[in-house]
Amino acid sequence: MNTEKIKKDFPILKRKINGKPLAFLDNAATTQKPFQVINAITDFYENHNANVHRGKYVLSEEASQLFENARKIIGELVGVTPAETIFTRNTTESLNVLAFSLAQQKVLQKDDTVLLSHMEHHANLVPWIQLKEKIGIKLGFVPLKKNSELDLEQLDVLLQKKPKIVSITHCSNVLGTINPIKEIARKVHDANALLIVDAAQSVPRLPVNFKKLEADFLAFSAHKMLGPTGIGCLIGKKELLESLPPFLTGGEMIETVSWEKATWNELPWKFEAGTQNIAGAIGWKVAADYLQKIGLETVHHFEQKIGKKAFDALSAIKEVGLYGPTPSKKCALFSFNLKGVHPHDVATVLDSEGIAVRSGNHCAQPLLRELGADNSVRASLYIYNTEAEVERLVNAIEKTKKVFKV
Ligand SMILES: Cc1ncc(COP(=O)(O)O)c(C=O)c1O
Repeated sequence: MNTEKIKKDFPILKRKINGKPLAFLDNAATTQKPFQVINAITDFYENHNANVHRGKYVLSEEASQLFENARKIIGELVGVTPAETIFTRNTTESLNVLAFSLAQQKVLQKDDTVLLSHMEHHANLVPWIQLKEKIGIKLGFVPLKKNSELDLEQLDVLLQKKPKIVSITHCSNVLGTINPIKEIARKVHDANALLIVDAAQSVPRLPVNFKKLEADFLAFSAHKMLGPTGIGCLIGKKELLESLPPFLTGGEMIETVSWEKATWNELPWKFEAGTQNIAGAIGWKVAADYLQKIGLETVHHFEQKIGKKAFDALSAIKEVGLYGPTPSKKCALFSFNLKGVHPHDVATVLDSEGIAVRSGNHCAQPLLRELGADNSVRASLYIYNTEAEVERLVNAIEKTKKVFKV
């Protein structure tokens, strides 16, 4: 994998920030877009723009074909059919749709338990809190071990209480931990529960095959994998998606309507109410092609290699407290605190050096509290980051120490 060559595909990475070349290390929040994706979106609006599925004219047919082909490619990326590939706005919406459809269908009722983990993003926590408040479900949590991995012995104990749903992240956006989803799926299914996987951080950087993972549902977003914002996916086993009611209604998701009654279109359109993000899907398809060309196995190996370098370099700074497991168990994502300096101050000094990192609670307030931290700095690497940028990060942390007299 040639990082320098890849970098040239990303126009924004030519920018200077505060007089320094941009080192974009906030990829867990969103990734940058290659010109191939930007051009595909522009080409759609310049040459093919029309609403899909509705017109019997050339542009509408072209737009429909591009849109449905995008669905096919995104589905293939995770090994599923177009019928199992539902477009949403993002991972958060996918998880909300699922939670509320499961409740509407009474798969989840008062006193049923949903099992989550202590490393969930708010997107995989708050919809369930909503159901707790609205219909009285109960929540359970798989704790973490000291090494920042999920405590699977505790999962076994919690599964004995017969939860209906287990919803777990594949890869933590705070710790970087990659969870053994297949092993978890087997345990969950032995307990007759359904498994939902938040794959927002894993699909961009690991080979993810829905069938091989043995999950029941999967959610992820385009913008974290070189695609545009405003589009994501809900993947599900066909028979389960068929059994669930739509969450939003109107538009393409309709089959027939009378004044008093409506029936639903077939999958996947049943869950796609109103005009979809057509240009977004087309851009996402090109992003998926781009990643497939590199190969997600290659992306994973690259992250392991650069991640080990970053881990060693950050661990060598004695004032840096790193969170998360050892490098082989995680992606190239590093949350840390610099002793005595607020994370926002660290991020500000890093920004003065042209380095973009995130600081805050990373939409995982309960986890940060468990870590005793409230906030942290997070540097998350992706395919266009270099070892030279890791060195710049380390040097900028050294500068921060001087600025704050640590
Ligand atoms: C693990 C995880 N889940 C869910 C989300 C939510 O993604 P989105 O904002 O695209 O809905 C994120 C975003 O940071 C994430 O890291």
